[in-house]
Amino acid sequence: MNPINLANFFTKHQPRAYVNASVRFHHEFTMEQRLAAAERAGWNVFQFPSEMLKGGDLLSDSGTTTLTAEQMAAMMLGDEAYGSNYGYFKLLEAFEEVWGIKVENCEIYLFHQGRAAEHALFTPIGRLGSSLKIPSNGHFDTTRANIESNGIVAIDCFSEELHKPGYAPFKGNMNIKKLEDLLAQDADGVPLVYLTLTNNSGGGQPVSLANMKAVRKLCDQYNKSLFFDTCRFAENSYFIKTREEEYKNKTIAEITREVFALCDGFTISLKKDGLANMGGVLVLKKDSPLLRAHQEIANDIRDHQILIEGHPTYGGLTGRDIMTIGEGLRTVITEAYLESRVGQVRAFGDYFKELGIPVLEPFGGHSIYIDTDRFFADTKLKREDYGGISLTGLLLLKGVRLCELGAFAFGESHPYNFVRCAVPRNKYEIQDLYYVADCVKGIYDQRDQMPKAVPVYGKDLTLRHFKARFEFIDYTD
Ligand code: F0G
Repeated sequence: MNPINLANFFTKHQPRAYVNASVRFHHEFTMEQRLAAAERAGWNVFQFPSEMLKGGDLLSDSGTTTLTAEQMAAMMLGDEAYGSNYGYFKLLEAFEEVWGIKVENCEIYLFHQGRAAEHALFTPIGRLGSSLKIPSNGHFDTTRANIESNGIVAIDCFSEELHKPGYAPFKGNMNIKKLEDLLAQDADGVPLVYLTLTNNSGGGQPVSLANMKAVRKLCDQYNKSLFFDTCRFAENSYFIKTREEEYKNKTIAEITREVFALCDGFTISLKKDGLANMGGVLVLKKDSPLLRAHQEIANDIRDHQILIEGHPTYGGLTGRDIMTIGEGLRTVITEAYLESRVGQVRAFGDYFKELGIPVLEPFGGHSIYIDTDRFFADTKLKREDYGGISLTGLLLLKGVRLCELGAFAFGESHPYNFVRCAVPRNKYEIQDLYYVADCVKGIYDQRDQMPKAVPVYGKDLTLRHFKARFEFIDYTD
């Protein structure tokens, strides 16, 4: 395909917010320059230079937040001492205040990001036996990879509602029936149960407190530890308050504390609802079934942390990062922040709907998920043509970056085939997001001419979406 053909994808639907976005950002790179860069990147969005993405970089909401004035001020007080820096104690106070945990009843491990916390947890778990399985309402890709690299099988128990179109308030819930069957069949093979709040690989959908309690009950019945992946706990609490009748008069802070009281431990990437650019935590409650049965794990993880990350009081983070996290956690549970955050994502989703683009509903808290199967339903593209990769690739030419989380990232037989528009926190105006949706519409109108994406490198590698290279083949070529 030549550049003229590719440029044609954007001629039909003129972006409504073009003037806003272009005046501020768009003068620096031409479509041709972006095309050359995209080809150099093998059409892999992760390899595309971010400086060319002034139309909207919605690759991830992770670590991409704009720090608030309060966080910037707190950062100045960051103390870079090697041991027991000032921020560490402030951070523990924030953990107690926001999550309602008692630090003396927990083992707390700081890491540079979420996956390091997952790696630290699943490494000793993998040594507990063979043929182990960890069920979840939906494992995120790094969680799954960390589980599987330790010889454990990661099992997704997505809710029935997620498979159905239309509204359901908590499509991120654990499929209780599937979990129950699994525990009844092979309780010994399950070292712990995992719940991801919100469910990132299940369309960013929330989990209800009722569902968490039902999972807790099953775990108690089988004496299993229940772990949460709390990357987006505040957004999840917001959905509990606004969609779960029983909690409508509780504050987000109260709901959050109730959520954290239900688990035996949790991992979190603070790059999401820590409102920070760095940071991860693993918390193990000392009275959890896991630690009661395997006390040695606490020390094993502590050694792992010291070997890989550094002293437990900084754990791979600078004193300045640590200060931003404490402050971020306090902001993220305020209703003013969450109204604006979730409200912006909702307005973005509503605009997609107005344009007639098929998106997953209801909208989640951090992203809009384009339903790739429905997007290309009336075209020649099949799942194995990776239309989601072609869509994200062509958008690079407009300085827009989205992320394929579907047939290519998770495999052709994955139940969901999405392209995710993840909205960074405190970063974009709604007009910027409209511009992104308009660019998607430009392609949607010409979807019948969409090239297929052919992987020319990395198709069979693990975690292939980060590494693969593609060529776009036009059906008419
Ligand atoms: N768990 C969930 C649910 C996540 O969404 C992520 C990261 C992680 C764990 C790992 O955290 O990146 O700090 O190591 N999600 C990012 C995303 C990368 O774009 O959704 P991390």
